[in-house]
Amino acid sequence: MERFFETKYSYFKNDGREYVIKTPKTPRPWTNVISNGDYGVVVSSTGSSYSFRTHASLNRITRWNQDLIRDDWGKYIYIRDNEDGDFWSIPWKPVCKDYEDFELIHGIGYSIFNTEYYGIKTELTLFVPLEDPVEIWLLKVKNESSQIRNISLFTYLEWNLGGAPDWHREFHKTFIETYFNKDGNYIFSKKRLWEIPNKKGQHWNRDWEYTAFHWVNLSVSEAEGSKEEFIGLYGDLKFPKALIEGKLTNTFGKWEDDIASLKVNLTLNPSEEKILIFALGAIKNDSNESIDKIIEKYNSKEKVEKALEDIRERWNELLSKSLVETPDPAFNIMNNYWLKYQAISGRLWARTAYYQLGGAYGFRDQLQDSQIFLYLDPEKTLKQIRLHASHQFSNGYVYHWWHPISEIGHVNEISDNRLWLPYLVIRYLKNTNDWNSLKEKIPYLDEGEGTLYEHCCKAIDLSLTKFSERGLPLIGDGDWNDGMNAIGTQGKGESIWLGHFLHGILKNFVKICEKEEDYERKGYYLKRAEELKEAINKYGWDGEWFIRAFKDNGEPVGSSSCKEGKIFLNAQTWAILEDSTSEERKKLAYESAKKYLYREYGPLLLYPAYTSPDPEIGYLTRYAPGVRENGGLYTHAGCWAVLASCKMKDHEAYKIYKSFMPIYRGMDPDLYKVEPYVTCGNVDGPDSKYFGRGGWSWYTGSATWYFICALEGILGIIPTWDGLKISPNIPEDWEEVKIKRLFRGKIYEIHIKKKGGFEIFVEGEKAKGDLVNYQGDKKVVKVEVYI
Ligand code: GLC
Repeated sequence: MERFFETKYSYFKNDGREYVIKTPKTPRPWTNVISNGDYGVVVSSTGSSYSFRTHASLNRITRWNQDLIRDDWGKYIYIRDNEDGDFWSIPWKPVCKDYEDFELIHGIGYSIFNTEYYGIKTELTLFVPLEDPVEIWLLKVKNESSQIRNISLFTYLEWNLGGAPDWHREFHKTFIETYFNKDGNYIFSKKRLWEIPNKKGQHWNRDWEYTAFHWVNLSVSEAEGSKEEFIGLYGDLKFPKALIEGKLTNTFGKWEDDIASLKVNLTLNPSEEKILIFALGAIKNDSNESIDKIIEKYNSKEKVEKALEDIRERWNELLSKSLVETPDPAFNIMNNYWLKYQAISGRLWARTAYYQLGGAYGFRDQLQDSQIFLYLDPEKTLKQIRLHASHQFSNGYVYHWWHPISEIGHVNEISDNRLWLPYLVIRYLKNTNDWNSLKEKIPYLDEGEGTLYEHCCKAIDLSLTKFSERGLPLIGDGDWNDGMNAIGTQGKGESIWLGHFLHGILKNFVKICEKEEDYERKGYYLKRAEELKEAINKYGWDGEWFIRAFKDNGEPVGSSSCKEGKIFLNAQTWAILEDSTSEERKKLAYESAKKYLYREYGPLLLYPAYTSPDPEIGYLTRYAPGVRENGGLYTHAGCWAVLASCKMKDHEAYKIYKSFMPIYRGMDPDLYKVEPYVTCGNVDGPDSKYFGRGGWSWYTGSATWYFICALEGILGIIPTWDGLKISPNIPEDWEEVKIKRLFRGKIYEIHIKKKGGFEIFVEGEKAKGDLVNYQGDKKVVKVEVYI
């Protein structure tokens, strides 16, 4: 099978759907985030991992500690040769033997570890079935040697069961109880304490409302519930007592440091292969879920293989709603498979990854991430919009973030959060024309309910009350940039970026007011938009670019007069994206951004980085220089910069897009370090010692926006109120491009060809200008574009 983008560590295969890792010693743990929307697993190239249900921090099933250097928390399988006592582990951790053969395939919804050691070949497939709260480990073990082999397999995992990490283990372990169900061949485990308050609001007075279990299909010879028995006092996972001695002690109960280990003995003739199926899951007590029923569904190789096939099919069907075919295979691989998968599995369903354990919903984060569904299944974007609207109070405020399960959230004066609701509704309507959605009643968090339209108006109206005397929006506890958390806490600091953002929302939202026949509001919003634009341009212009913000004491941030942080990216790009300034200023702002910010590994969020903390700005200035928001590439914002380049018709747009493309960056893996198949949150900027190093992979905002900037920026297929606007920004040497795109319930098959001039044919008929707005009955609409 053809290999793409191969390095000494890895390559893509199977059209790019699968990523093959050739060694467990990747420059960082390279992970897969596998989820079915409820149950999830994060698994890395070393084989370490954690499992959770609904919320990775409040409802974690297995223990894990964030340590990307050791990466030594997980769920493991040991293999022991009973003739000579040698043992190893699959995957690589914790024993870390040098395999004769190693290959890890991260796929869409599964990971497969292929290893060979000491004449024993294994294939371990890990996945989470579509519907059940369980993960399956399908293990094939084959004897490749010429002797009969007598081996034992030992699994190992530590129970967490609830709030994580359980840093006070001595406290928490006393609430856990474990049992071995001999007839059922499984261990199960409960916890009599959960960190979540009970109905009366009492803390530490509630059961963990689940039962976790760990099962295997072959007869268990011994099992273990005690960490002390397994590892041995002062021992470790590399040389655990259980493996040295070759036995488990069947110790279970309420008095242990709780783990689960199942031991299975196997005798394998030369060339003989045996199949084992392991399951790990957690059922909800007081529900119709049952351990026996789940086991019954996955207790044969055929059933497990079918479940895996179902996953492949489901993903395939979903992802193929929008596809691209361009001369750049990296562009195709990212946009056809991995970005969509990352956004859905990683950000909307699991909401967790190695760099940020998470589990909560960020008001602005998952709204933005849910834009991926505009291309695949817009009803799901609407579902996300509803969910967020229901986390708004009747006074317009919203939770900054909230926890599913506990429904505990946090309200603050961060000024942009609530505005992402109308922003998303605008995007949803442009893509779907589903105007009825506005009428749907959604409850407020505190009392009463309102239509989706009213929810949006409340968000905007509240923001319109939070203005300074000179007509600029107050930044409050921060705006999109979380690290600018001290600029406006006294209620005076102002944000220019927020001004651009709000301006765009007002200008677009009037279309919605019109549809709702809310003409008074329409007039008011238009007036406020004009005034806002004027104020931004009067006070926010620094001469060659836009200032980012003003502190409570009136000092500018992101101005040439500043010692550090002289220019900020978002303040320039959003002026372009939201048309909040003159053409001349757009040009100047863009030129300045290009000059100072658009660098080798992507556009920097600001420049130069802060080298010492500025308590009047916030923790952004406390990061190491060049790291994350402090002067690195922040992928999320880098994507907006690509969109701005495209809007400015910069012929270098593709080069800029490519400068932070994971696949190309991944061709220099020892510099880039993070996974080449998913986007990372940030890349160190020039003020870091590690300029070009990626961090925080599988991060929120990055995948969806990277997808959008490819589809709407580079390919230039832009949803507008009047239809799809076609405005490609493809590189000079691309002769043709094919795009399949879901839009307003129809599949558009768009074929762009280089020919000179600009003409569009929709179903053979010449379209006016650059708009495609097909009104016929066809479900699949053919569009020819000649450029
Ligand atoms: C993180 C946050 C997101 C924020 C961004 C910039 O990605 O999750 O909400 O906008 O950082 O600070």
